[in-house]
Amino acid sequence: MTLLVVGSVNADLTVRAPHIPAPGETVLGGDVRVSPGGKGANQAVAAALAGARVALCGAVGADPFQEAALRGLTRAGVDLGGLHTLDAPTGLALITVAQGGENAITVASGANARMTPEHLPTDFAPFSHLLLQGELPVGVTREAARRARAAGLTVLLNAAPVQAPDPELLAQVTHLLVNEPELAALAPGGGEVEAQARALLASGPHAVTVTLGARGSLTVTGAETYPLAALPVIPVDTTGAGDTFAGVLAAELVAGSPLPGALRTAGVAASLACTRPGAQDAMPTREEIDNLIGGLSDDNLRRLGLSKVVREDG
Ligand code: RIB
Repeated sequence: MTLLVVGSVNADLTVRAPHIPAPGETVLGGDVRVSPGGKGANQAVAAALAGARVALCGAVGADPFQEAALRGLTRAGVDLGGLHTLDAPTGLALITVAQGGENAITVASGANARMTPEHLPTDFAPFSHLLLQGELPVGVTREAARRARAAGLTVLLNAAPVQAPDPELLAQVTHLLVNEPELAALAPGGGEVEAQARALLASGPHAVTVTLGARGSLTVTGAETYPLAALPVIPVDTTGAGDTFAGVLAAELVAGSPLPGALRTAGVAASLACTRPGAQDAMPTREEIDNLIGGLSDDNLRRLGLSKVVREDG
């Protein structure tokens, strides 16, 4: 069972600042930090660190940022046979992280935006699951989903950032992951999170997970609703927390974990990722996730809805 990630690869240029600048404002921040990022690469690394066998299809440029962009993927052992070096700059993300850990990100897509369906694998048979995001041209994402479903793969889409709703793409998705603004963009009309998520089930996905930041996440399937609390942590940097959730969830599903346990492990991993700076640099290993769950008191486990995971899956 192998996970294929078709997604973006960036180098992240991050500055910590007292607050996120308002339009027209200049804020003096700290030293710049250059680290590996991109939602595709981040999710591939999170899945690999959680124990999955992972391959990435993506693109970088032949420039000095390539090395920083690929460092985490190489270190985590992600198969880069599907990586293309294009005549374009490596994707860059300009990130401001404010005091409370929240961030603002502008992406210069570079090589990511030059990908076409020709860069996709022709044979999806070696893979069991496909994980997609919203940072590649939508035609590439849609074609990857179509080929994967035709080959019988489970398709997870983290619609971040949200592009225009694409019924053809959503129809190919097995599990959709969004945050609250992305949910609102895909299921306009307002209402409760659960009702909005349920409305999206009608467009194709068998499951919709809404990540709610410090409030945890909510997942709906045709038959069930799974609310999940987040571990209470003091956030240092939330960059890549959503990617950690998506990557670890995919890794758990590849390993055959039932959905409730997979969601809880992904939630713990995402909380842990907020306690350290950076995206890939902050992601926990399988051992760290298991140690954290193992070290929680029974009361805390129960409060977070984790006791069942330990007893059922542990
Ligand atoms: O989700 C966080 C990521 O978004 C960053 O690593 C940045 O590269 C952007 O793609």
